[in-house]
Amino acid sequence: MKLTLERARELLAETTDDPKLLVHATNVRGCMEAFACRFGQPPDEVEHWGAVGHLHDYDYQRFPEEHLAHTESELLAAGVDPADVRAILSHGWGICNDVKPETDLEKSLYCADELSGLVWAAALMRPGGISDLEPRSVVKKFKDKRFAAKCSREVIRRGAELLGLDLADAIAVCIEGMKPHAAETGLLPRPATAAAPVPPP
Ligand SMILES: [Fe+2]
Repeated sequence: MKLTLERARELLAETTDDPKLLVHATNVRGCMEAFACRFGQPPDEVEHWGAVGHLHDYDYQRFPEEHLAHTESELLAAGVDPADVRAILSHGWGICNDVKPETDLEKSLYCADELSGLVWAAALMRPGGISDLEPRSVVKKFKDKRFAAKCSREVIRRGAELLGLDLADAIAVCIEGMKPHAAETGLLPRPATAAAPVPPP
């Protein structure tokens, strides 16, 4: 059976309680929902793509140095559809394994994993959060290698290429996908009196 959001939440809760990782899971979920819409998926698939996004870093908190090496057998044993397990593995293509993203879902996950981090960091710096973030300002941040340096520009570029999208177009999809989750991810507009957050590394 295809992964549901409810099941993805249950499974991630078994391995992950780091608030930053949970925000990342939500960010990637939002991007995946928007990519599903972009690729013309019906509503049940929008949830399905989001669920795969939510669960994608299932083993990261426990095994940061062996990321994705403790995912396949555990998720299969938990009854996750092998196609969804493959999709999760494929976001480590060229980094943790050689499982190449083949489907639109897999390519979207590969792209969203790093790109969501860049969009999140860019939105976090703004008084308006993600509400008024324009793709062109994220493109500028993309070019500034010191900004959110941990977000791999190479992976983002390769991900957009795999999807056949311009960088700005892929960014626009992610911004729209992350907007509905802004309350959960700290990206709502800040009151005028609030201090600016500390920039991410
Ligand atoms: Fe991730």
